[in-house]
Amino acid sequence: MKCSQTLAKAREYEVREGALVPAEERPVYHFSPWVGWLNDPNGFTYYNGQYHLFYQYNPYSTYWDSMHWGHAVSDDLVRWTYLPCALAPDEPYDDAGCFSGSAVPLPDGRLLLIYTGCQSENLDPDGKWPQMQCLAVGDGIDFVKYEGNPVLREQDLPPAGDIYEFRDPYIWTCQDGTFRTLAANASLEGSRATQLTMYRSDDGFHWERDKVLFEDVLKIGVMWECPSFFPLDGSQVLMASPMNMEEEEANGSIRFPKGNNVCYMIGSYHDEEGVFRLHRSETGDAAYDPVDCGLDFYAPQVRNMPDGRCIMIGWMQDPQTSNLHDDVGKIFGQYTIPRELSLRDGRLMQKPVRELEAYRKDRVSYRNVAVGADEVVLPGISGRAVDLELSLQAKDCKVFRLRFAKNDQYYSELRWEPARALLTVDRSRSGQSESYIKERTIEIANRTDSDLNHELRLRILLDRWSAEVFVNGGEQVLSMTHFTDLSADGITFRADGSANLTVTQYRIDCGD
Ligand code: FRU
Repeated sequence: MKCSQTLAKAREYEVREGALVPAEERPVYHFSPWVGWLNDPNGFTYYNGQYHLFYQYNPYSTYWDSMHWGHAVSDDLVRWTYLPCALAPDEPYDDAGCFSGSAVPLPDGRLLLIYTGCQSENLDPDGKWPQMQCLAVGDGIDFVKYEGNPVLREQDLPPAGDIYEFRDPYIWTCQDGTFRTLAANASLEGSRATQLTMYRSDDGFHWERDKVLFEDVLKIGVMWECPSFFPLDGSQVLMASPMNMEEEEANGSIRFPKGNNVCYMIGSYHDEEGVFRLHRSETGDAAYDPVDCGLDFYAPQVRNMPDGRCIMIGWMQDPQTSNLHDDVGKIFGQYTIPRELSLRDGRLMQKPVRELEAYRKDRVSYRNVAVGADEVVLPGISGRAVDLELSLQAKDCKVFRLRFAKNDQYYSELRWEPARALLTVDRSRSGQSESYIKERTIEIANRTDSDLNHELRLRILLDRWSAEVFVNGGEQVLSMTHFTDLSADGITFRADGSANLTVTQYRIDCGD
């Protein structure tokens, strides 16, 4: 394969420098870049018997710049093998960056990547790059950019579509073998809403505009980045990452904090008809809900896999503060654990992929521990790479506190206020960089029966610099990072009042 100098340089650099990243600098079981910086997951798909994951990648520093596509494969969505950098910004139409996109296998056995090329020429007055959709095709390791690139240009936008805000194509194959792509664009027309425009192709290479599938008339933020659009449990889900949302409050808790968020909507859709009908549009309820209610989650990508599961992987970082981190080692950024999605009672449910359970070691369990005002420390319940299952009962308890990544100086905290059905993640004592948002409180979903207010089931995945909290079987999830020194590995419990705790912990060990 002809390999451009830019790609050859990235591949050489990553072989040399990636090997120098000490294993202790990586999360134990969450995906991180081979070297350098990572943001959005891209091209998540199953191809030739393996899961493929590409990622927005700057090999050369731990800050965002010069977007490449990094690449890795996995047999089980937990352990990943790094492959050579797949795409570099080396053509006139993408020399300012190969931005996010997706992938599908082609009938001829090749893998097709569709991504946004950012061009360094013809900038707008604010210095924004023109953005166009481009293709690359390959064997799962080496990818050749298509000679017909860019395949979606200014003239393919809907009328008044903004070429400087046109990106993140999500591709799928229809039952009849034709292809669709949904790309996000801002509209310069009166309402200036984000549009998700659908394109169709018979062969994956020649595209025509079909229609604006969805327009954000509610103005949920400006510009919806990274859409995913997928069938799930008999419905169709649209998920996207709107930028710059206003804060949305509900019952004393924050449904969406101000800033960039990820939301989903449930509806129905059939390729032949090509219309997305929202299920909740006619009711008083907001038609969209948050996907993750923590502090660090953005730009997830979802794929329907051949085994029938619908799997999501997200970037575990707040995009607005991600570039403000302290100077760290040779890598920065990580993904969530891939999550199995399902729908229950009109809501998205998320569970860590079941494959993670194969990596559980050293089970430690306690039943019915009484927790009160004195901090409870349980022998064997500690660590920074563990999978915890907790069941809490709090009949007479104002606040239940679980602290983790704890030593004399630091801790992160999960606070549960049973009577108000509130749950808070708080990293204000974690030693986190000043610029980061420190806490978020959510209302626990589906708690109407007063008895239920006093029970809570949690599964918590801790992995060195992150925590993912799955609430009541995955009805809600809170993800966050914290860069506390690894020696802070205590886990403790305390209650203002009295509570009852059953806890099982496993260490996660990937054997490397
Ligand atoms: C989201 C995003 C995408 C874009 C990419 C660039 O985090 O801004 O819209 O394609 O990152 O790295």
